This record gives sequence, C-alpha cells and structure tokens, in this order.
Amino acid sequence: MLALAGKHHPRARLTGVASYLPERVLTNAELTEIVDTTDEWIRERTGIRERRIAADDQATSDLAVAAGEAVLRSTRTSASDVDLVIVATTTPDHIFPPTATLVAERLGATAAAAVDMNAVCSGFVYAFAHATAMVEAGFARKVLVIGAETLSRIVNWDDRSTCVLFADGAGAALLEADDEGAQGDGVIGFELGADGSGKDILCIPAGGSRMPSSTEGVTHEDLCIQMQGREVFRFATRIMIDSATRLLEAAGLTVDDVDLLVAHQANERILDHAVEKLEIPREKVVMNLDRYGNTSSASIPIALAEAAERGQVAPGDLVLMVGFGAGLTWGAALVRWEPRA
Ligand code: UT7
Repeated sequence: MLALAGKHHPRARLTGVASYLPERVLTNAELTEIVDTTDEWIRERTGIRERRIAADDQATSDLAVAAGEAVLRSTRTSASDVDLVIVATTTPDHIFPPTATLVAERLGATAAAAVDMNAVCSGFVYAFAHATAMVEAGFARKVLVIGAETLSRIVNWDDRSTCVLFADGAGAALLEADDEGAQGDGVIGFELGADGSGKDILCIPAGGSRMPSSTEGVTHEDLCIQMQGREVFRFATRIMIDSATRLLEAAGLTVDDVDLLVAHQANERILDHAVEKLEIPREKVVMNLDRYGNTSSASIPIALAEAAERGQVAPGDLVLMVGFGAGLTWGAALVRWEPRA
C-alpha cells in the first residue's frame, strides 16, 4: 500500500514526540552470566551495549502512559482534547481489553477512541499511517500514537540468539489536524507492506488460537520469541532500502531531501547497510540501539524523541521513518518535523 497525502485539508502534522525508558539497565556483561555469550560478540554482531528492562510491577501500559504524558506535557495538550489513542504493541497487558483503552483512561483521554495495533516492529509506522488517515479524513483532530513494549516478558532467557537483542521502552507522538497546511507540509506519505509467507522466520508459535497455551505439550519456548536471525537480517536489509526508495520516488523526493532517517533499531549492521545503500550521511541517521537494544514498535518514536532532544532534527526538517519486522511487515513514512513552538 502506497499513499500520498491529498491536496485537500486538513493535513496531519507531527507536533510532538517523547519517550519513556525503564530505569533498570541490563548490560552485556550481566547477560554473560545468564547465557553463553560475550560482550564482544553482542557489540560486534549487533552494536548493542546495554538495554532497559521494565520493573516487575511495570506492564506495557505503564510505559505507554509515561511516554503519552510526556508528549501531552511537551505539546501543552489536554488529554481531554485527544480524539484517538493508538497503541502499537506486540506485548499488550492482556489479550483483551486493548492496552490503548487502559492508557487512554489513565491519561484522562475520556473523549478518545482507543485501539491497539499489532504490526510488530513495523507497528509504529503502521499506527502513524492509520492516525494520518483518520486526521486527513476529518475524523480526528488530535491523535496520540504510542509504541510501547515489554519484550523482556516474551523473550526466552535461555536463547542467546534472541535474549541479547530485545528490550523494553515506549515512545509517543502527537499528530494534529492543520486546516491551513499546504502540500509538502506535515505527513507527506507512507508505504506499508506485508508478506505472510515469512510468518515462520520470526514468531511466537503458541499462546494464540492456533496453539493455545493450554494445549498439551506446549513448552515455555513455544510461548517465547523464536527467530531465524539470518533470514530476518536478509529481509530487513532488502526491505528497508526498497520501501524507502519506493516512497521517496512516489513523493518526487530523493535521499538528499531527507534530513533525518529514523529506522527501526534492530541491528547496527542493518543500519550501516542502509547508510551505504541509500548513500545517506551517517550523521543523518539516528542510532541509539547501543543503549536500548531492539524495542520493536517503540524503537522509532524513542529514537526520534532522542534526536529531537539533542537537536539532531530541526523544525521543518524532513524525517524518513522505516520499520520492518515479523509478519513479515514493513512500513516507511515521510513527515516534516513541526514541533509546537
Ligand atoms: O526487529 C526485527 C527483528 N530482528 C532482527 O532484525 C534481527 C536480524 N538478525 C540479526 O540481527 C542477526 O542475524 C543476529 C544478531 C540475530 C545474529 O547475528 P549473525 O551474524 O546473523 O549470527 P548467526 O545467527 O549467523 O550466528 C553465528 C554464530 C552461531 O554459532 P555457530 O553456529 O557459527 O557456531 C550462533 O550460535 O553466533 C552464535 N551466536 C552467539 N554467540 C555468542 C548466536 N547468538 C550468540 C550470542 N553470543 N548471543
């Protein structure tokens, strides 16, 4: 699915972004006491040095609420003015109710519709695109888009090939309607895709309706993330370039127009590949997975929030976001960074 924002009002603008990371830091050195690994292997093969892990009493909604509160505060937005809360997550508090309803209630977004979106590591871009559609169709004026994960709860801590990668965190963005916006402002477009033929290379086999957790013979492993790392790596390197290129071409833009690339933080080598193939200067690429690991649908808003905080992105800059993950799914979005003054 490829879409460019229409010529008609309103435009959807990205006016704020914020993040929340749990306090507990888990270093590579600590991981060597849990599984057969080394700090050197993790750093060289992934770029990760440490990651954050939610406290025992923190669930995904707690992280999402903290990030949501932060973005409402920074944009001086009243929760009661929010029309829609979308929480992109793979690790909801419960199968149901949706985590978004818990988040909306705790934020005081009493007038908002609330729904979860599960597109795994592409979840934030998918949610962002759906939020844009709701704003541009005139159904919503303010949408809170939150990516939040507690992947530490679904990782197999005996599997060294996955437990060193995944972590916890949340990022939140505010999209607002602008009746005066011109083409080229706000959200410019997005490209979303899915290929279910890759369903087995990254999945949690059990715990759903196909293989309920009560099924005889279901093991702890079946209820945790299982990944064929090399296959995912191949897919990620290909799709990031393809999706970004397709979207830029359709929008009549080139990589030179992009001021900031915020890609899913899965592996430093995947990001390096994007730098090389897209021929984008490294200083235009956000990299923070050394400190946070792979936080799935939270990684893009966390990275964008950090870039904004340290002044790596300026008002009016063109931001290219690219996510990829299980499903298989992928998504790219082009948006101007237009923070509330
Ligand atoms: O959010 C999207 C989801 N995930 C991703 O994007 C992940 C994409 N894939 C990757 O990032 C990489 O494939 C990994 C980091 C997961 C693995 O790196 P790799 O270079 O592809 O390693 P590999 O799977 O080919 O394994 C190489 C060796 C194996 O040993 P043998 O068979 O060569 O003896 C593994 O058993 O590295 C071993 N290995 C480890 N060694 C030390 C795997 N994990 C570890 C570990 N510590 N943590």
